[in-house]
Amino acid sequence: MATAALRHAAGEDVFRLEVGQPGTPGPATALEAAKRAIDTDLVGYTDPLGIEPLRNRIAQFYTERYDVKVDPARIVVTAGSSVGFILAFLAAFEKNDRIALSIPFYPPYPNIAKTMGLQPVLVRANEEHRFQISPDLMNTLENISGFVAASPANPTGSMLSPDEVAGLVDYAEGKKIWMISDEIYHGITFAQPAQTALAFSDDVIVLNSFSKYFSMPGWRIGWMVVPGRLIDPLRRLMQNLYISTHAVSQFAALGAFEGTAELDRNVEVYVQNRQVLLDALPKMGIKPAFADGAFYIYADVSKYTNDSKKFCERILADTGLAITPGIDFDPQQGGNFIRISYAGPADTIAEAVSRLGKFLANN
Ligand SMILES: Cc1ncc(COP(=O)(O)O)c(C=O)c1O
Repeated sequence: MATAALRHAAGEDVFRLEVGQPGTPGPATALEAAKRAIDTDLVGYTDPLGIEPLRNRIAQFYTERYDVKVDPARIVVTAGSSVGFILAFLAAFEKNDRIALSIPFYPPYPNIAKTMGLQPVLVRANEEHRFQISPDLMNTLENISGFVAASPANPTGSMLSPDEVAGLVDYAEGKKIWMISDEIYHGITFAQPAQTALAFSDDVIVLNSFSKYFSMPGWRIGWMVVPGRLIDPLRRLMQNLYISTHAVSQFAALGAFEGTAELDRNVEVYVQNRQVLLDALPKMGIKPAFADGAFYIYADVSKYTNDSKKFCERILADTGLAITPGIDFDPQQGGNFIRISYAGPADTIAEAVSRLGKFLANN
């Protein structure tokens, strides 16, 4: 990312296929709500758990999207799901607790866990596991206090079926450990809609965000749904650690729920971009993984390299395409993989495919 930014600053062309954020603005309804809030609402500190209308609206969203009833009192508004993870880890675990994570992973999971004094316990989930954590994989581990499951996942885009989500919820309940379900890519799915862990239990921690489907990453706003017994500890942690989430962003988020027609049009662009890449990459000898959801293709480039970092550096230098090396997500086998984000506009993806094709033909 730093090299891509330098290239951009030097006036050279760069195609940002490494970024994990939508290239679109937040929905117009969110921007209008933010402007209205600045003009008319109190935008001081809010309740640490979030403004009431937003917590109510998020609860209603669970009925609309999943037909699942959630008590608004269990909803906690956070400054992005990143802060949600920090708070969830602090509220649910004790120092030195062991948290299971599958490899490849979203790098902040183990990094946040370590920073919070927890021990990440990594278990490999290869292609035959659809790159997803499972009860079988966790049975190979000892003494874990919880695990993170993500569907759709970053970097692989792979998803858990509703039965698999239910299986993980049962596993957590049976073992009396915490399931933390990262649902931040819900709404960006291509085969079947993603199922929330809340459909199977109230005793899970669910994280979600306005950064991906809602296209509002810079507003730093997300939410958690937690069991009632975590609400009081979370309120106290939040009050002391950061008082409240940004008030203007909370009002904007409330407006975002009225902008789903615009947001669904963004997803249509992802559908096209994904198809362009899925058609083109295999012809170049690059093998895409599942890409069931999110806006990433995690692809096997072992035909060309086992050093994805150098490979991505060369691609950037020669073509202006910024792509993420797999070692960011898998320190052991990520040398054979790259992650391409297709959250940008359709013309960027078309140009990227053409440049990558020429690069590979000459290398
Ligand atoms: C899997 C996953 N979880 C969580 C996050 C954090 O996002 P935010 O803090 O913007 O909600 C990201 C961001 O890329 C992500 O990919």
